[in-house]
Amino acid sequence: MNKALVQVLGAVAYGELKAYEGAKAEAEAAEDPAVRLRHRTVAAEELRHHKGFVARLEVMGADPERAMRPFRGPLDRYHGRGPDDPVTDAVMAYLGEGVADDLLTWLRRVVDDETATFIDSVIEDEVGHEADAAADLRAALDSGPDARARATRAARQMLLHMAWSGRTGAAPLAAFLRLGRSHELVQVLLGGHVRRMRAVGLVPFGLPLPTRIVRRAA
Ligand SMILES: [Fe+2]
Ligand SMILES: [Fe+2]
Repeated sequence: MNKALVQVLGAVAYGELKAYEGAKAEAEAAEDPAVRLRHRTVAAEELRHHKGFVARLEVMGADPERAMRPFRGPLDRYHGRGPDDPVTDAVMAYLGEGVADDLLTWLRRVVDDETATFIDSVIEDEVGHEADAAADLRAALDSGPDARARATRAARQMLLHMAWSGRTGAAPLAAFLRLGRSHELVQVLLGGHVRRMRAVGLVPFGLPLPTRIVRRAA
């Protein structure tokens, strides 16, 4: 059994469960019926993803509960940080969906065909989630004169969190790095970050970096 892959699938399966819980909570809190429906649809999709990854773990002969366990603490802490201001929340949601998409796109290249087919169906849903998150962020960026400064700060925090979590043992990103081809993975994540920040008109990395570096990462 590929232990590194079991760890990654455990991290992803638990991440999908957290995404489900988050979307369900958003649906319950929504007052607008259209918004409630949107979050309910997302919640159903995230639950399908969670169950699908659990099923892949079972097919591999792994114990899904055991595979997910090391990631409960880090992911519960990350998702339990509570609501911030709406701009920060919108940045975290947008970049969070984006990182998930990049990780899955990379993961599908290194797994067996059956898992890759399932991941393709997950990515199809996630593309829609990312588009919704981008629309929410664009609206938040127009909400006040200091919105862009707050968004830049939030993007910086998000990157620091990722860099930190890449180094600690049980964090999801560290599990991905253990799977190998880490150089390629880091490039995919940096490229995705640059592309997404530019797409909403923000400076990548939350810093006005020399374009040379930005271009290399894209
Ligand atoms: Fe998902
Ligand atoms: Fe999602």
